[in-house]
Amino acid sequence: MALIEGVGISKRYGGIVALDDVSLSVERGQAVGLVGPNGAGKTTLFDCLNGVRHPDSGEICFEGRRMDRLPVYERARLGIGRTFQRLELFAGMSPREHLMVAERVHRGDGRLWKDLIGRGRARTPVARVEELLVELGLEEVADDPIESLSQGHGRLVELGRALVQDPLLLLLDEPSSGFDTREASAFAAVLVEVRSRRETAMLLVEHDLDFVRRVVERTYVLDFGKVIASGPVEEVLADPVVRRAYLGEAT
Ligand SMILES: Nc1ncnc2c1ncn2[C@@H]1O[C@H](COP(=O)(O)OP(=O)(O)O)[C@@H](O)[C@H]1O
Ligand SMILES: [Mg+2]
Repeated sequence: MALIEGVGISKRYGGIVALDDVSLSVERGQAVGLVGPNGAGKTTLFDCLNGVRHPDSGEICFEGRRMDRLPVYERARLGIGRTFQRLELFAGMSPREHLMVAERVHRGDGRLWKDLIGRGRARTPVARVEELLVELGLEEVADDPIESLSQGHGRLVELGRALVQDPLLLLLDEPSSGFDTREASAFAAVLVEVRSRRETAMLLVEHDLDFVRRVVERTYVLDFGKVIASGPVEEVLADPVVRRAYLGEAT
């Protein structure tokens, strides 16, 4: 059974067909890309998966359970974490405080369910946050105000906030946006490491194909709301149809 599976997803905005009969799946622990030119429908599909938008037709299942009508917070409880394209961080708060708040919200939300299935907590919330700060390399800046941090550190805080809930699936919306090449490559390395340590599945919406190559093993290509290719990342990105869709801009 796939971890997440969408079948026949369509979505229109008035006369615009943003998604036309799109199907995709991500297996447990797998890292999958979702790429395509501007306007292809990537963000719309992402939002259908995380619950911000509802598809007009199609089905989305998570661990075999239908979830296309569930609200965002219930999807989070099932094990879907996400990061945003624009950073949503709070001025005046430090990285440690951001993670502590996320940890508290998460604990309030899922304790009973967690206890029932035995993913209960042997470690205290403070210890968990400390571990996360170390895992993400944020110890040095843990108490600095967020507005004094680099974009790269900001993204790491955001990632940490999503990881607090131990997601089975991490949805990443253009994590390289606003990064220079060096920052992008460092962040890609963090994602690779997080995945190998935690076996978190990832779905990566991204326009930077080098970033995609580093992080995922398999990718989908959307163009005008349709999946035009899918498969192993190098194979797909070498496909003439895919290269044409990008008009040579990114391959
Ligand atoms: N809220 C909206 N209202 C109307 N049209 C939209 C809206 N959001 C996206 N679109 C249109 O849907 C199509 C897909 O957009 P989007 O999902 O944002 O693509 P991508 O993320 O691949 O750039 C585009 O034609 C876009 O103009
Ligand atoms: Mg987009």
